[in-house]
Amino acid sequence: MQNLFLTKERIEQLLEQYGSPVYVYSEAILRQKCADMRGLLGAENSHVSFSVKANTNLSILKIARDAGMYADAMSAGEIFLCKQAGFAPQEIFYVCNNVSADEMRYAVDQGLVVSIDSVNQMRVLASACPGARAAVRVNTEFGDGHSDKVVTAGKKTKFGVQLKFMQEVAEIAKAGNVKIVGLNQHIGSSVQNAKNYEAAANVLIDMALEFPELEILDFGGGFFVPYRPEEEDIDLDDLRAMFVRLHDRIVAEHPNGANISMRTEPGRYVVADCGILLGTVEDVKENFGKTYVGTDIGFNVLARPMLYDAYHHIVLPGHEGEQEQTVTVTGNICESGDILAKDRNLPIPNVGDPIVIQTAGAYGYVMSSVYNCRMRPAEVLIDLEGRDRLIRRRETIEDLLAPMLV
Ligand code: LLP
Repeated sequence: MQNLFLTKERIEQLLEQYGSPVYVYSEAILRQKCADMRGLLGAENSHVSFSVKANTNLSILKIARDAGMYADAMSAGEIFLCKQAGFAPQEIFYVCNNVSADEMRYAVDQGLVVSIDSVNQMRVLASACPGARAAVRVNTEFGDGHSDKVVTAGKKTKFGVQLKFMQEVAEIAKAGNVKIVGLNQHIGSSVQNAKNYEAAANVLIDMALEFPELEILDFGGGFFVPYRPEEEDIDLDDLRAMFVRLHDRIVAEHPNGANISMRTEPGRYVVADCGILLGTVEDVKENFGKTYVGTDIGFNVLARPMLYDAYHHIVLPGHEGEQEQTVTVTGNICESGDILAKDRNLPIPNVGDPIVIQTAGAYGYVMSSVYNCRMRPAEVLIDLEGRDRLIRRRETIEDLLAPMLV
């Protein structure tokens, strides 16, 4: 787990200046993570697509691009933001699911390769966009992830084309003048067993041998990120060795092997550690023998604990080393499930104290909402010189009215 990159004084200053709660990102850590990922793929024509669904702040996207990343976008909105951040069409891979002909047309008009993940979606693409360049998302039957909700391959998920339908997809593409230039997969998020990643990748390579003109082979993202202090970082050397094995196999066995662009598409690994969420303790109370620490970080601000029972490490700056007690940390939303941490051992804070939620850069702000009409927070970047800069303003109450028609 990443060390907290801010002192108590700096945390207090940021809360004072930008209000509470606020997401804060470290550019230095973000750039390091991009470099880690790029270092995994040796071959010159290999690329790492940052899966922007994890964090779409324009400043983050621009840094990722500057650090040499491509992008994986899954909607017209994500494509739009990637373009705003300066990604060229050939740098954006559109990996969609259950989309309309209009959305496919939007992507094709931008010059993007569209990844299709069903027989029918290939029919839609062929009829809406003859001449398109497509990839096919294959369900290689190996799934993995930190929760059932984010396992995206295998027998219990909507994603990908089952191997037995691949030929039909290829025939529809051919008949519709759609060129299949890529195969891709994504087995799930925060993969717990790296062996599943390699096994799935090898099935993808088996399938690639059936497509002699292939240009892109994308093994997906999902690299494990530790959220608990006792969990270990992934071994980048082991992963690099795995990609060397995969690359050697492609070059040895595929007729176009030397020219195939090998890709990955990590989201969480790139941005999880560079982001923390700062908030404020608003109440400490006892209810029927349980101690509740009430904060201004509701599940509208950070949804992961509520959605996946996800663990995020909590720090109470200034209370380090104090005696701990079992408490439940909650937000300010009108639901009993609005829990950031259940039965966690922490020191007892005072009302008004800052609270820090770590490893919050991935799937944090992007999954926030204005439920209970609580506004989304601001986002702040700590640049390489250590200066703070507002990269998204806090929403105001007036923003609630903007899309409404009366
Ligand atoms: N590629 C595709 C096609 C994906 O669907 C995803 C994530 C990724 C790449 C990036 O996966 P990553 O490297 O970030 O694990 N909201 C959940 C995670 C959902 C992931 C969905 N797909 C969470 O907060 O844990």
